[in-house]
Amino acid sequence: MLHLTLNSSIQKQALSKHKKLLLKAKEKLSKNPKSEFELLPFQYIANLKKELAPYFKKFSDIAIVGIGGSILGTEVIYHTLAKHNKNLPRFHFIDSVEPTFIAAFGEKLSDKKKTLFIFASKSGDTLEIISNYKLITAGAPKWFGKNWKNHVMVITENKNGLLYKEAIKNFFKLFEIPKDVGGRFSVLTNIGLIPAILMNIDTEKILKGAAKEAKSIEKSFLNSASAKMASLMYEMYRKKNKDIFLFFAYADCLKYFNRWVIQLISESLGKNSKTGPFPATAVGPKDQHSMLQLILDGPKNKFVTFLEIENNEKDFKIGNMKFSDILKAEKKGSEHAMTKKKIPNITIGLSDLDEESIGELFFVYEEAIALFGYMLGINPFNQPAVELGKKATMDILKKIK
Ligand code: PA5
Repeated sequence: MLHLTLNSSIQKQALSKHKKLLLKAKEKLSKNPKSEFELLPFQYIANLKKELAPYFKKFSDIAIVGIGGSILGTEVIYHTLAKHNKNLPRFHFIDSVEPTFIAAFGEKLSDKKKTLFIFASKSGDTLEIISNYKLITAGAPKWFGKNWKNHVMVITENKNGLLYKEAIKNFFKLFEIPKDVGGRFSVLTNIGLIPAILMNIDTEKILKGAAKEAKSIEKSFLNSASAKMASLMYEMYRKKNKDIFLFFAYADCLKYFNRWVIQLISESLGKNSKTGPFPATAVGPKDQHSMLQLILDGPKNKFVTFLEIENNEKDFKIGNMKFSDILKAEKKGSEHAMTKKKIPNITIGLSDLDEESIGELFFVYEEAIALFGYMLGINPFNQPAVELGKKATMDILKKIK
């Protein structure tokens, strides 16, 4: 469960100040087919589990090849919910074409012969994914023998993309992504849910956490956490000139959430020279010894969101002092110092590090960022400038060919 705590540096009315804008944003969102990310596929999970059942216990390693919105959410799920589970295959996340990175991955495999490769890409055409696809499928017959095709799974959407065509041609196990759900909003679709099932995570519970917020929006939109967050972000950005949104996570595993939210904010909100808060991240307590001086005494242009896990499953003691108490005291200390220096901050507390909290956290931010985008008067669902860089890269590569 999520708790939103406002520090005294933020006036309560900021949460519901921009009602008119919020309601308009909500209307725009509900009219856009891209709001399909709100549809949570409960009815589909049982079948998905059945289809994936033959994959259990067969593989020692599962490598997920993807980039951006096709992998960042899955990494959050793995690092927050699965990493320490026993009896799981080893999971690897391949989001690079850096030769040393790829070589190191090959060396990390516990048993190359028992590896499953999952290629996750909405377009099925992304350079980094296709490059790795070609490299891996060139080696696969040698590593796996004549059954090599059983070691490849594809999750994609675009039927004209290379991955889709290859999956059909080679009879790879193929799963689709809903057409209207964009990459960075897709973690609660097959993109995140298939790997989560293979991680033996209770995926219904992730969806249940997300549905809790969906219900709260339906019941009383303006009182929902998503609407409150969107209103607060608007107030901070447009009215208080806080153009750096800093996410300060007091749990190492939440640094993966930081990476996910950076992408969600950057690609959704950076749309013209006057619009786009700059997302930044820190992890406590280590970054207290690195960034806190700048945050406290530097330019007063930051809005800080602390993230913390309220109940730690494991703990240690020195004398009467628990490690979790030390961590909480450090977070409170940073919060106190920021409030004293008039740096607006809030805390999102996850009652426990569990499926429901993570599902709720994803959904609140997807919804809040989409609403905030509409409040700013931009389209939160496109990313036209990314295409520019992609095209320039392809032009350079064509010359090498
Ligand atoms: O959110 C987005 O749309 C992007 O970050 C994409 O997820 C990213 O570029 C990867 O694209 P694809 O899933 O088509 O391989």
